[in-house]
Amino acid sequence: MSRNGKRTSSITFHARIDGPSEPERQARILVNPRLALGLGKILTRSNTPMGKILVLYDSRSGNTTKMAELVAEGVRKIPGMEVRLRNVEGAKADDVVWCDGLAVGSPTNMGLLSWKMKRFWDETMQDQWMKVDGKLACAFSSSGGWGGGNELACQSILTVLMNFGFLVFGVTDYVGKLATLHYGAVAAREPRSENDQNACRKLGERLAEWVAVMIDGRKEDHPLNKSETRMAPN
Ligand SMILES: Cc1cc2nc3c(=O)[nH]c(=O)nc-3n(C[C@H](O)[C@H](O)[C@H](O)COP(=O)(O)O)c2cc1C
Repeated sequence: MSRNGKRTSSITFHARIDGPSEPERQARILVNPRLALGLGKILTRSNTPMGKILVLYDSRSGNTTKMAELVAEGVRKIPGMEVRLRNVEGAKADDVVWCDGLAVGSPTNMGLLSWKMKRFWDETMQDQWMKVDGKLACAFSSSGGWGGGNELACQSILTVLMNFGFLVFGVTDYVGKLATLHYGAVAAREPRSENDQNACRKLGERLAEWVAVMIDGRKEDHPLNKSETRMAPN
């Protein structure tokens, strides 16, 4: 069912999003110091912009780790992305400073992000507040069961990220029957089913697409500019 009540199957979107012309893009790069520095540095190396993506996660019993690995797998579907996978215990503020796009995952703890993930943002990232604005970000969470608050935990992660000035997003696409990730990818315990696994992969893929479009100026990577079929509510 679609949101307006009509039964739909998979549909193909052909809408095109017009990006800036090349002169406009160069002008924007000149006025945006982060873009100018980032592109300048990377273009001299390889002549192709490389998006940088951090998958940062906490995990006590390994379930969120498995989700994080799938998110990173999804990132790699988009060419030209460099991905770092970091457990919150070993992560440094520099990892966040380094990235253009960030996926944050946590076990659902009382409907919220874990205390370790919260501490990372409270303490490790304290000095970076007002210095990391404008990066793209999303969330994922593993809970003990469906209805246990995994989407609430995603929202709590997104709230923290918004406080730091990140541009946070959800995903409209479905990944299987009755399965989507509007507020981030969620799983009950480990991501065992194909739907759960594909939700994690889709999150990473969409993060990489947004980085490609918005940071690297690759408008052909916009999901609405692709001819491949995207899954609608089913
Ligand atoms: C302190 C604590 C609080 C938890 N709170 C919730 C909760 O509110 N809802 C829920 O469904 N599961 C809750 N759980 C279960 C975990 O979210 C679940 O086992 C998850 O899969 C663990 O992920 P991990 O293997 O990455 O640590 C809690 C677990 C702990 C240790």
